[in-house]
Amino acid sequence: ILYFSSVGSTMDVAKEEAKKNASEGTVIISNKQTSGRGRFGRKWVSEFGENLLFSVLLYPEQKMLSSLNIVASLSLLRAIQQETTLLPTLKWPNDVLLRGKKVGGILIETAVLAGRVKYAIIGFGVNANSDPTQVPEISEFSTSIANELGRDVSRETLFESVLVQLSDLYHSLRGWMDARNQWESYLETIGNHVRVVWGNEVEEGLAEGVDHDGNLILRRSDGTTVTLSGGDVTLKV
Ligand code: BTN
Repeated sequence: ILYFSSVGSTMDVAKEEAKKNASEGTVIISNKQTSGRGRFGRKWVSEFGENLLFSVLLYPEQKMLSSLNIVASLSLLRAIQQETTLLPTLKWPNDVLLRGKKVGGILIETAVLAGRVKYAIIGFGVNANSDPTQVPEISEFSTSIANELGRDVSRETLFESVLVQLSDLYHSLRGWMDARNQWESYLETIGNHVRVVWGNEVEEGLAEGVDHDGNLILRRSDGTTVTLSGGDVTLKV
C-alpha cells in the first residue's frame, strides 16, 4: 500500500507503478487528489482527509475484465454493509448507493496489448465523511456514509474491509477462471463439425469455441453464429 498526502490522481500513480511491474494488489491511496477523475471524463472532487480515494493495480486475464465491475462494486457494497448498519444498493454498472443517492463510484482503466492485459486499475472514490449537501453540483444525487449514519466512519476500517472483500472476490473469480480455462482446454468438441439436438431443435455447424460462461459457439453453414447453452452433441464426419 503506497500512501500519499496529495497526488494528481491515484489512477495515474497506479499506472506508473504498472509500468515498473509493481506487484498485483499494489494499492495507491491518497488523502487528496488535485485532478481526480470519474467515468465519462467527469471530475471527482474531494477535500483533504474526508473520504476514501484509492486505486488497486491488478493483472487479470482478459476474460476476467468484464467481471471487474461486479467484483469492485460488490466489494464496496459488502464493506459498507459490514462496517455500518446501512443498507447499500447498486446502480448499474457500478455505483454504490445509500437511500438512492451515490456514496461511491468506481473507475476501471485497463490496457490491453495484442490480446494480453498489461494492467487493470480499479479506482474507488467513497464519500466517507464528507458532506455532499454542501456541494451544490452534487448535493441532489450524492450522499456520504457519515450523512447517512449521523456520525463519522473510520476510513481505515472501511478501507481495510473493501480490500479484504476485493481480495476474496477477485481470488474466487481467478479460481473460477482457472477451472473454466482448464475445462476449455480439455474440450475436444472445439474445431469439429457437430450436430446439436435439444428438444425439437437441431443446429449444425462448426464448434468454434466457448464463451466466457461456457456456452458453445456454433458457426452455421450460412456464416451466422449461434450460442448454445446445452444439448446433445454428435460429431459430423
Ligand atoms: C465515477 O465516475 O463514479 C467513478 C469515480 C472514481 C473516483 C476514484 S477516486 C480514486 C481514483 N482516482 C481517480 O482519479 N478516480 C478514482
